[in-house]
Amino acid sequence: MEQCQCLRNLYTYRLELKADCTQTKMRPTVSLLFICFLALLAPLQCGTSSSADDRRWLVSLVDLVELDYVDHCEQRANAAWNELTGNSKGLATKLERDKAFGMFVCQQTTDIKSSLTAHALSADDNVLRRKVKLLLQPGDTLLETEQWIKLVTFGDYALNKIRFATNYDCGTASNCTLRELHYNLARQQDEETLHRMKLSWENNLPDLHDYLEHVLPLLRNASKKNSYNSVEEYWDALGEYEGAILKARELWENVKPLYLKLHKYIALRLKGSDAVGKTLPVHLLRSLTGDDWSNLIESLLPKHAGIYQKVHANLQLKNLGGVEAFKQAAKLIKTLNLGDADPNIWSESVFNSTCPPTLVDWCKPNKVRAITCKDVSIANYIEAHEAVMKIVYKQTINLHSNNTYILREASRYSAVYEAIPGFVSLLSLNPHALNNAGLFPLEIFNYNPNQHRLVLQLIMALRDLPKLNFYLAADEWRIKVLMGAIPYAKIPSSWSDFRKNFSYIETSDGDFLGDPYMVFNKPFIGKFMGLILKYQIYQSFAEELVSDESDLLVHIAENNDRLVDAMMQGYGTVWPEMVSDLLAKREYGLEYTGLTDYYKFLDEYLDNQLDPSTDNEGSDDYIEPVINEPVPEENEIPSSAENQESVKETEKVETHEDINDNVIDTDGSNSKFIETSTVGVLEIKNPVATGDHNEVNTKEASYNTYWWIGIAVALAVVVILIAIIARKRHNHRKQLERQRRDNTRA
Ligand SMILES: *[C@@H]1O[C@H](CO)[C@@H](O)[C@H](O)[C@H]1NC(C)=O
Ligand SMILES: *[C@@H]1O[C@H](CO)[C@@H](O)[C@H](O)[C@H]1NC(C)=O
Ligand SMILES: *[C@@H]1O[C@H](CO)[C@@H](O)[C@H](O)[C@H]1NC(C)=O
Ligand SMILES: *[C@@H]1O[C@H](CO)[C@@H](O)[C@H](O)[C@H]1NC(C)=O
Repeated sequence: MEQCQCLRNLYTYRLELKADCTQTKMRPTVSLLFICFLALLAPLQCGTSSSADDRRWLVSLVDLVELDYVDHCEQRANAAWNELTGNSKGLATKLERDKAFGMFVCQQTTDIKSSLTAHALSADDNVLRRKVKLLLQPGDTLLETEQWIKLVTFGDYALNKIRFATNYDCGTASNCTLRELHYNLARQQDEETLHRMKLSWENNLPDLHDYLEHVLPLLRNASKKNSYNSVEEYWDALGEYEGAILKARELWENVKPLYLKLHKYIALRLKGSDAVGKTLPVHLLRSLTGDDWSNLIESLLPKHAGIYQKVHANLQLKNLGGVEAFKQAAKLIKTLNLGDADPNIWSESVFNSTCPPTLVDWCKPNKVRAITCKDVSIANYIEAHEAVMKIVYKQTINLHSNNTYILREASRYSAVYEAIPGFVSLLSLNPHALNNAGLFPLEIFNYNPNQHRLVLQLIMALRDLPKLNFYLAADEWRIKVLMGAIPYAKIPSSWSDFRKNFSYIETSDGDFLGDPYMVFNKPFIGKFMGLILKYQIYQSFAEELVSDESDLLVHIAENNDRLVDAMMQGYGTVWPEMVSDLLAKREYGLEYTGLTDYYKFLDEYLDNQLDPSTDNEGSDDYIEPVINEPVPEENEIPSSAENQESVKETEKVETHEDINDNVIDTDGSNSKFIETSTVGVLEIKNPVATGDHNEVNTKEASYNTYWWIGIAVALAVVVILIAIIARKRHNHRKQLERQRRDNTRA
């Protein structure tokens, strides 16, 4: 009797599921298989009630639930893909799928809860325990159906409208698309036009009041449904880091000085010294939400920015945008031995849409596709590395077959999942990576490594520092509003107030609504922590290098176990527990020093630029300490007097224009930089000693009666020079080593 009852329950269970998914037709084979499987187990379950049976029951239920999740994921992915590629029914089906998903998740959670008996989980059952926890606390999907529908409707509509609107103002005669808006924003010079462009974008954002009244407060309800008292606690749980916001604040306090310096430097370069320390309107940063200032790079370059010009030009020349950028990223990832990107990505992704890349995940082995733009820029190139690494990350998780759905796709915000792809995007501008990609030759880099590093650091800083600030601002502000810390009447303008004080940016009241994480009420905390962590990972590998000239990529490729191990675990382990291994046990938690050490050159450069005590600072185009005749070359790069002679002497030698950028601009008070620049100069003098320049001198001397004397003197000079060079180089190398050790010591 009991057994029959039990079996009947099982079938009812399946039928309920089916009813749930009437529109979403399950795969019959899998379902049938599992019904049989469960039917076999059923007698055990009904007859006795040992803990082993309870466990087996729970395990099979979890397996079944996970398979159903995969079905839902596939259908939602298809719908999302149709929507993203502009299918006319795309948005409607996406909404249907997203709504159905919420109901499905609630049902599954209830089922698992009801079969969770006291004996089902033994003490050492970590994996099962973890799975059950993730399934029982799925996040916002636990909202009441009608509230869930409100959330996804708001988000889906908002993003669809932003993506497909064609009424943006690109500063040209006719209206344009989002892709064109991004493209033109990077190039527009006129401040007024930039402002108009940004306003045209804001017109396509969803209604701020609707958001504040009906969407943001859903977070309170979602917290309760997941059994948390406050949104902050709830987000800590989703980010799996206790006191995450507090920790983020602490980290930020230490990154803030660098952020402020960068901000001041931008104000100085764009608006002059009067603007330093004041807020900047976001359109002046050529950004929509102010979370990325990369478009400013050309206005901010230091004097010797040959590396930027070259990389920029080579990207265009090689057309490294869209699919080509993705393929180049895959090459780097292969070099790092982190895996091969599934080749179907190239044929099945869409590369003529809008940047930044959006990934769609079918929750199946090796089915993630990207939708992105074909525009060529350094920012898109870096972004492509992050996107491809995310895809490879998913592939890596998938390779480990016992990493089931919920351990791959949990609704958690893992910093490790953000940090490893972010780390690879940092490497995209590594000198060896630039060399391998044919973007900038390593020999040239090595003439003035510090000068070039400074430029590369500036490029990265313009992306990452504003992001870090935006992420924290967005999370803190939402928590403040939800805690009631802001008077009701002031809420509508509180975002722009917050941004003014916290970010020194003038934004509009609702421009955050252009961000997918904001419209779907997702926390940024995982991304914030990921940005911090990626610099720590970088540092952990960089510290292991024997010398500055060694190839970091090769070193990582040979020692990438810790990266691969972390990726393989998926969501099986809470991410903070992986941090120590990921950093080769040098650090055990998040530290800001990885980031601040990475930006050492930039930091010192900004200090010099902003220091009002030196007379040659503070102007838009500051002057070098001891100069200044332009070097007679196609591209006039002034160089310091110190190397002027050598430059003249080397004119006849085949050199690269960038060889001349060998001095880091400095006010002369910074001994480190002076030392650094000396090496650059001396390295150039090398060819002088052996090169054709001697022949030139020789010929001139042959008209002279003191020909032999001349030769002898010249030889003597050369010998002395070589001796000095050798000695200075030796000293400098020692100094560099010492400096490097100091820098990298956290
Ligand atoms: C451009 O968009 C604006 C604002 O939506 C609209 O008023 C205008 O008619 C559009 N112009 C063209 C040429 O489509
Ligand atoms: C949150 O839940 C409460 C009680 O269920 C409900 O009255 C309220 O409308 C919900 N909030 C939103 C924004 O839907
Ligand atoms: C993108 O390319 C696909 C085929 O490659 C084409 O069907 C589609 O119309 C293109 N979309 C745009 C916006 O150009
Ligand atoms: C996967 O299976 C292996 C061996 O069966 C086991 O050692 C490992 O802990 C499992 N990992 C997960 C995440 O289930």
